[in-house]
Amino acid sequence: MTHGETKVPAKAAPSQNLTGLISVPGDKSISHRALLLGGVAKGQTCITGLLESDDVLNTAKAVAALGATVSRDGSDWLVYGTGNGLLLKPEGDLDFGNSGTGVRLAMGLVAPYNFEVRFIGDASLSSRPMGRILNPLREMGLQVRQNSESHGKPDQLPLSIQGAHHMAPITYRVPMPSAQVKSAVLLAGLNIPGITTVVEPVMTRDHTERMLQGFGAEINIETDDDGARHISIKGQGELSGQNITVPGDPSSASFAIVAGLIVPGSDITLENILLNPSRTGLFTTLAEMGANLTIQNERESGGEKIGNIRVKTSSLKGITVPADRAPSMIDEYPVLAVAAGFAQGETKMLGLDELRVKECDRLAVTAEGLKKNGVDCEEQGNSLIVRGTGSVNGNGFVETHLDHRIAMSFLIMGLAAENPVSVDDTTMIATSFPEFLDLMRGLGADIEQN
Ligand code: S3P
Repeated sequence: MTHGETKVPAKAAPSQNLTGLISVPGDKSISHRALLLGGVAKGQTCITGLLESDDVLNTAKAVAALGATVSRDGSDWLVYGTGNGLLLKPEGDLDFGNSGTGVRLAMGLVAPYNFEVRFIGDASLSSRPMGRILNPLREMGLQVRQNSESHGKPDQLPLSIQGAHHMAPITYRVPMPSAQVKSAVLLAGLNIPGITTVVEPVMTRDHTERMLQGFGAEINIETDDDGARHISIKGQGELSGQNITVPGDPSSASFAIVAGLIVPGSDITLENILLNPSRTGLFTTLAEMGANLTIQNERESGGEKIGNIRVKTSSLKGITVPADRAPSMIDEYPVLAVAAGFAQGETKMLGLDELRVKECDRLAVTAEGLKKNGVDCEEQGNSLIVRGTGSVNGNGFVETHLDHRIAMSFLIMGLAAENPVSVDDTTMIATSFPEFLDLMRGLGADIEQN
């Protein structure tokens, strides 16, 4: 379904005593990667706990359109890949809906193939920058055809790409902290002869390199004297199918975690949450703000650290969140900004440039939503300053701009504000967290769709 065509608004009302033990669905980043790598591996990949959200299901469809066999088997997903270098030209367009991760990683994966593929997406995705991945892929030999519907906007969907007969490996220094850019270049390098190297001055989530290694790709990772990571892949190796268990998504968990901190009388435990350090910046930040947040039963699963997280209602205080923490919590700023509204004192969130190019301009839209609900805040360049007073008036109607994390964040605000908070649409929550409303209601949250 195309989100935004028929909007379903919702209202979250002041609630009490959110309690319970919940499992959030599988990690979105790992789910996309498991399908894409399963699609080019030889043999069977079995994925347990795949996130069955619209974004990930679009990636599953794309992988099938590229020649892999993808099926659901009970609660598992089975992928029979084509083998590396053996993807087929899809018969139609590849539609990635709302998903920047899906489209950017898939473009990298198919870039070395000498056939034309057309990529399309929804209104939000069609306004997001693709040049950040097309430019390094062009250096490798990719040709890009801008389609007429993109109205002359450079490097935005819809567009078609075609690899050259002979693609060249490159060394690419990623100019912005982006795991999607890193991943697109590495996935292209997977099927280009020679060594492709990505240099990332600031570490971003490392699921692509971990999973490539797990599937058998030859990967080498070194950190230089300046702390930059050099990730190299030897192209045209063989990948073999794997069994993958997807841990709970820390980004989805963050909504129930913040709700548990700001709604009076709450005590919530979330099971099996991914605790990869490149994803846990929000938990560090909330702990610094005084959150009663404990990590329990830390353990290893499928090469990743996981654990349970327990939160209880807490008095939060404002802090400064350093810019270098942004990559490890980039998707969590809208809900952190909500938490900051309930904290005492000023929270400064620095270095949020990348928030401007998410599903919407998340920095501006978050600030607008806070103001509509009576929170004193200010955008200072690419930083967000929130001046919390310990309580939030609410009563605002928030426009979500096709952004799932904006919708969920402001519904969480409404559970703890003095008055209800409404959002104009909830349909796009299904892109990342279809179970959100049911899980929150199961904890005792008063949220109504209308
Ligand atoms: C993701 C990387 C991040 C993040 C997105 C998922 C990934 O995007 O915001 O939700 O899975 O690689 P950027 O690479 O644009 O920072």
